[in-house]
Amino acid sequence: MIFPQYHEDLAHLHVGTLPNRAYFIPYGSREEALAGSRSRSERLTLLSGEWRFGYYDSFLDLPEVLFAPEATPDTIPVPSVWQCQGYDAHQYTNVRFPIPFDPPYVPTENPCGLYTRTFQWSSDAGEQATLHFEGVDSCLYVWVNQQFVGYSQISHSTSAFDVTAFLHSGENSIAVLVLKWCDGTYFEDQDKFRQSGIFRDVYLLRRAASHLDDYFVHTELNADFTAADIRVDLDRCGDAPVAWQLLDAAGAEVCAGETNENIAFRLDRPHLWHSEAPYLYTLMMHCGGEWIAEKIGVRRVCVENGVVKINGVAIKFKGVNRHDSDPVKGSAVGREEMLRDLRVMREHNVNAIRTSHYPNAPEFLQLCDAYGFYVIDETDMECHGVTHIGLPTHLESYNALANDPAYEAVFVDRAQHCVIRDKNRPCVVMWSMGNESGSGCCTDAALKWTKAYDPSRLTHYERSSFPPEGQEINKTDLDVYSRMYSSIEEIDRYFEEGVIGKPYVMCEYCHAMGNGPGDLEDYFQCFHRHEGHCGGFIWEWCDHAIDMGRTPDGRRKYFYGGDFGERLHDGNFCMDGLVYPDRRPHTGLIEYKNVLRPMRVTSADLKQGLFTLWNTLDFTCLKDAVRVVWTVRQNGQDVYTAEIPEALLEIAPHAQREIALPLPEGLTGDFSVHFSEYLRMTDALLSAGHPVGEDEAGRQEYEVPAAPECGAAVTVRETARHIILTGSDFRYVYNKTTAAFDELVHGQCTLLTQPMHWNIWRAPTDNDRNIARSWRDKHYHFVAARGYTTTLTQQGCDWLLETTFSMATPHLPPVVRGKACWRIKTNGEISLTCDAARREQDPFLPRFGLRLFLPQTMDQVAYFGYGPRESYIDKHRSTFRGLYCAKASDLHEDYLKPQENGSHYDCSFVQVAGSDAMLQVSGGSFSFSASPYTQEELTDKQHNFELNKSGSTVLCVDGYHSGVGSNSCGPELAPEYRVPKDMHFACTITPLHR
Ligand code: GAL
Ligand code: MG
Repeated sequence: MIFPQYHEDLAHLHVGTLPNRAYFIPYGSREEALAGSRSRSERLTLLSGEWRFGYYDSFLDLPEVLFAPEATPDTIPVPSVWQCQGYDAHQYTNVRFPIPFDPPYVPTENPCGLYTRTFQWSSDAGEQATLHFEGVDSCLYVWVNQQFVGYSQISHSTSAFDVTAFLHSGENSIAVLVLKWCDGTYFEDQDKFRQSGIFRDVYLLRRAASHLDDYFVHTELNADFTAADIRVDLDRCGDAPVAWQLLDAAGAEVCAGETNENIAFRLDRPHLWHSEAPYLYTLMMHCGGEWIAEKIGVRRVCVENGVVKINGVAIKFKGVNRHDSDPVKGSAVGREEMLRDLRVMREHNVNAIRTSHYPNAPEFLQLCDAYGFYVIDETDMECHGVTHIGLPTHLESYNALANDPAYEAVFVDRAQHCVIRDKNRPCVVMWSMGNESGSGCCTDAALKWTKAYDPSRLTHYERSSFPPEGQEINKTDLDVYSRMYSSIEEIDRYFEEGVIGKPYVMCEYCHAMGNGPGDLEDYFQCFHRHEGHCGGFIWEWCDHAIDMGRTPDGRRKYFYGGDFGERLHDGNFCMDGLVYPDRRPHTGLIEYKNVLRPMRVTSADLKQGLFTLWNTLDFTCLKDAVRVVWTVRQNGQDVYTAEIPEALLEIAPHAQREIALPLPEGLTGDFSVHFSEYLRMTDALLSAGHPVGEDEAGRQEYEVPAAPECGAAVTVRETARHIILTGSDFRYVYNKTTAAFDELVHGQCTLLTQPMHWNIWRAPTDNDRNIARSWRDKHYHFVAARGYTTTLTQQGCDWLLETTFSMATPHLPPVVRGKACWRIKTNGEISLTCDAARREQDPFLPRFGLRLFLPQTMDQVAYFGYGPRESYIDKHRSTFRGLYCAKASDLHEDYLKPQENGSHYDCSFVQVAGSDAMLQVSGGSFSFSASPYTQEELTDKQHNFELNKSGSTVLCVDGYHSGVGSNSCGPELAPEYRVPKDMHFACTITPLHR
């Protein structure tokens, strides 16, 4: 097989391709163009569908004759990635290049796929035929009718070829050779499964002899937004004039004209485009027999005095980072998957997306236009693996490519592919030069070209915040200061120092891996402290995993890095999203949703019934956005409920207003007022009544049902190990060596299936991955209590057991020392007070409390505390203190990689019941979890489908439980969320009959 080989040749990034142009589809009629379904355009021949396919482990194994039928023995759907079709193997790597670092060379064992198909064509004199690939990973060689047409590389952007001269009327054939690796691979080192193939649509366009080649829409608003000058720069081929017509959103003509130059007109009182009301005009253009319908959104994005403004309003991005990812289709996601993502985002108050770390399919941006998402459009550029090449300093390694003029053309090419294709999309508010590729002359050149080409949008590139040594941060072509995972203190310091003066954006923050993030509200508060902070984008939208079907017992199996036998992989670091692979929300997404609620209650005077409401929206009066129902909650009950009158919600965007609510007469004691916000009007994605947020003022308490009194005396017997206490209806066996009870028998019921014990371990969460190393070093996973002295005294009818104890493992000094005082009353109530302290120099504890194994038949849980979802000291913004009931198994949050989950924060009551026995815990404030799984099982298993139930209901009652944070990639857990060194824990445990 002999043909020019460009895939290891950086002087030939593209061969025979057409110049970049804006994405649009020409149609054969006005009606077709208005309907906008491109596959229906008579000018478009969609080549997606079933192709013949031949897979080869190495480029060198390709047959001599590519066009012989034997070369493509199989068939494959296009678009798809071949790893999801049974070829090659999945591999997930994050930073590290999957191939040796040796640019421009790639391995000789370079897997490749040969795609062929035939199609009908009728050639018309004068018409042009163009062939478009919207996404091919990693590069492609193209032949039409066995003639070489060209070559291109850039996986996530369009490569187009003029194939007019290659086609004839009748049946034509096309062959596409796709290689897994090419020199472009060095610039596509994004953190994801490495997948290959033609993964987006392929189509031919039949262009009229005279046609519009390209156009660029500019919408220039005047100072007070009362008029816009619209200019559409036209790039025509041939001399046919362009007849145009502007339609409003209802389809009525606003103005029209015909031109041989550019389109220009003034729009008075334009409807503006923004995320809360994404108004789109349609510009219909007719040229040389083709119709093109372009959506126009009129809006201004700018930086004013260090503040990002959209249409003059300082905004905060409520963003997420989104990859193209699906557990079945891999990166070959279609319209349905895109729409599903946008709907789930909107359901959760998200209004911005960074297309990490490459341009999405053009259709995705059209959906963002229509549904109102701000987009940071990122070029297909990441060469993160350079950080491993070992130059003397980290920065030198990082900047090895980005600061080497030899690569300037590559960086600029990748920026151009993104910017030119997407330049007409109003949703795009920032251009990003890529991700984690170092910085230097190449990224500066890309920024410079971008800023000059499109000054109407902001430029972004996170690594520009770290210029090469001795250089300053880019002053001319970079609009925002972008960071990922910086701590709140760092952000505050940036604004205090005020040196750089650019608006601050978090292109990534609150790493959403596993149980977390725990710092969403803190970042929200921080962003709102600083006008110059324009918000951020959570890393990341979805868990990436591969759907491997089900286990014999019907459990869904998802595989992640390493599960495919890859030598080089990054484990479960790909599962760090706000949604599971099937888009069920993680509890972190629900937390994020509520942090982003449109209305917040910022202060309350419960006595007077006065509440200050804050409209956090940027453009919409609160009353137009939401309906709000308020409910008085007392002792776990809703005692009064009413709707806030619309007139009281007359609150301008960003404004606050104090309102009075008529609280019911005669309310005494503790109560809270709960607010539930619902979407007022059905919009393009959601129905009226969709819940958009909750808030609560005040604090209700719960009156715990008292255990029946019983006067019968308790008898006590002591052995070397035990103290046995027997009352009229119970028998408790206290273990002096563990400072806890071995047996609790109440009536006929044995309540413990194993001895109760003091517990500091939790199955490390993904966010514990760093601190868990220290925890393991200190053997926290098998620390056990050891009693020293126990004193037994009688106080009235009560018995008092006091044991000094420590918690330790072999070869290390005890990590905890404390004293537990247990009071046993005649009715069987056991009250604990415990004072303990952690050894100063040891790491903070995961938790501190008691673990009880109850019979698995005791699985009905009632509790008063933060629910109904899991809640932690730093993750309880979507949960509220109330009385909830659940089955223990339903309290388990099934993270794909098992870990600590399902705890409930700030509880004063929990009751676990079976058909005849019941155990109740009450106290000031504790966390609890009740689960069929042990922390050991959750620690040891790598996948949720491998989990075995313990055969008991495992009840953890924790005086303290560390927060979850976001330290899987973000900052360390804040000190205030860690279990403190000195601990005081009190609760009452009461076994009861049902
Ligand atoms: C960032 C990177 C992302 C992802 C994340 C960790 O540094 O930009 O692509 O790798 O870390 O999940
Ligand atoms: Mg990276």
